[in-house]
Amino acid sequence: MTAPFAEATLGPDQTSPGRTKVFVKSYGCQMNVYDATRMTDLLAAQGYSEAAREEEADLVVLNTCHIREKATEKVYSELGKLASLKQERGASGRDFRIVVAGCVAQAEGVEVLRRQRAVDLVVGPQSYQRLPELLTRTTRGERLTDTDFAVEDKFLALRRTAAERRGVGAFVTVQEGCDKFCSFCVVPYTRGAEVSRPVEQIVEETEALAEAGVREITVIGQNVNAYLGADAAGGEWSLARLLERLARVPGVTRLRYTTSHPVDMAQDLIDAHGALPQLMPFVHLPVQSGSNRVLKAMNRRHDADAYLDLVARLRAARPDIALSSDFIVGFPGETDEDFEATLDLIRKVGFASTFSFKYSARPGTPAAERDDQIDEDVKSERLAALQELVEAQRRDFNVATVGRTVDVLFEKPGRHDGQIAGKSPYMQAVHATGGLELIGAVAPVTIVAAGSNSLAGKLAGGAFREAPL
Ligand code: SAH
Ligand code: SF4
Ligand code: F3S
Repeated sequence: MTAPFAEATLGPDQTSPGRTKVFVKSYGCQMNVYDATRMTDLLAAQGYSEAAREEEADLVVLNTCHIREKATEKVYSELGKLASLKQERGASGRDFRIVVAGCVAQAEGVEVLRRQRAVDLVVGPQSYQRLPELLTRTTRGERLTDTDFAVEDKFLALRRTAAERRGVGAFVTVQEGCDKFCSFCVVPYTRGAEVSRPVEQIVEETEALAEAGVREITVIGQNVNAYLGADAAGGEWSLARLLERLARVPGVTRLRYTTSHPVDMAQDLIDAHGALPQLMPFVHLPVQSGSNRVLKAMNRRHDADAYLDLVARLRAARPDIALSSDFIVGFPGETDEDFEATLDLIRKVGFASTFSFKYSARPGTPAAERDDQIDEDVKSERLAALQELVEAQRRDFNVATVGRTVDVLFEKPGRHDGQIAGKSPYMQAVHATGGLELIGAVAPVTIVAAGSNSLAGKLAGGAFREAPL
């Protein structure tokens, strides 16, 4: 239900969609990136135009993330800046509206309106299809929140309309929400229960993207490998089956998926890595901790051995597969011994890339209630030690590519004239000398040097000029 917040902050309606420039700023995960393009497309269809920067906009949508305390605090500091901008505009008689969307909107609702009086609308991730109507109401001076888990199909209402603007790679949401309830995590509360999009919708969207020139599709979901989507005949498809179907869409040369939960890593998905050439040999598989005691307290539903077994099976299906993961240090009650077990797991696996975080207590989650919270200093020490190890692994992984020839999908011009940039199958950024006509193409590249953030290569058989890193 839309809850009106009885307060008028705006004058009479000076806006119409035709004149309004909108800027959507996203924080957090790929789901927010995808949602931001959907919101922009939806508003474009209503006649709103896209602003290049917030300063040029009449309407700013902050698409927020609630995952850690810092992410949420960033939203309020950004809102402070926007409030000043709104005041300046107001002084010169111009309208400026501020919308808070995403996971902070869902988690805090009306509290956002209370904490920052310049905010006009708070809209949760399951209500974006109602944005045009809600925005019309804000022009009448209403301040609103809408954080319903709507019954209508959000994805149908938010159809992709502007694929041609989106470049060589694109995200396609196939699953949203989470039923796992890890004891540290807000996502099940902000995104709701696991829902999978029907197969046909995803195929149609992928075909449209491929026709518009997209070559790499990353299917995304909070638990993407829990995907169980309906087909028109009433059947249920696993993620592996969906990927196999998407691999047959003409123009799609590469497929990826993220983020996976270890317990949903089914054998058919592992096998797909051996069977589907379009499926890239890179899996982001968050483990969070290597300690069985901590994994249990996190409610992750598997132990360290089960994770190592999964890694072994992935490597058996596709020997060159590269792995990436997320880690949390300083979960309540984590001992030095628990932390050592995490380092031990990292040494055993060898990761190509990782994300690591200090545990952040989140309101409403079970772990936040525990009375054995870890000191910030200890968290910082553990994070530094973990990052030193994973950074060394990342460097080793990149250096090991030197001398090899890998397929690169070129995505954009490089930083220097005559250079183009793309990605290896293992998500490494690669620069090579070559013409812009290669953008969108996959070409074999021999890697000649590994820099800190990218690899330099030469087109196999082509001329190479030393690429500055
Ligand atoms: N669905 C994914 C991850 C979603 S959130 C999964 O199951 O792994 C992305 C990452 O943020 C998580 O993998 C975790 O490492 C981190 N994270 C989530 N909640 C956190 C918290 N309260 N404190 C610190 N890191 C957190
Ligand atoms: Fe959060 Fe766990 Fe769900 Fe991932 S699986 S979104 S970490 S609750
Ligand atoms: Fe953040 Fe929400 Fe994504 S909390 S990580 S934006 S699902």
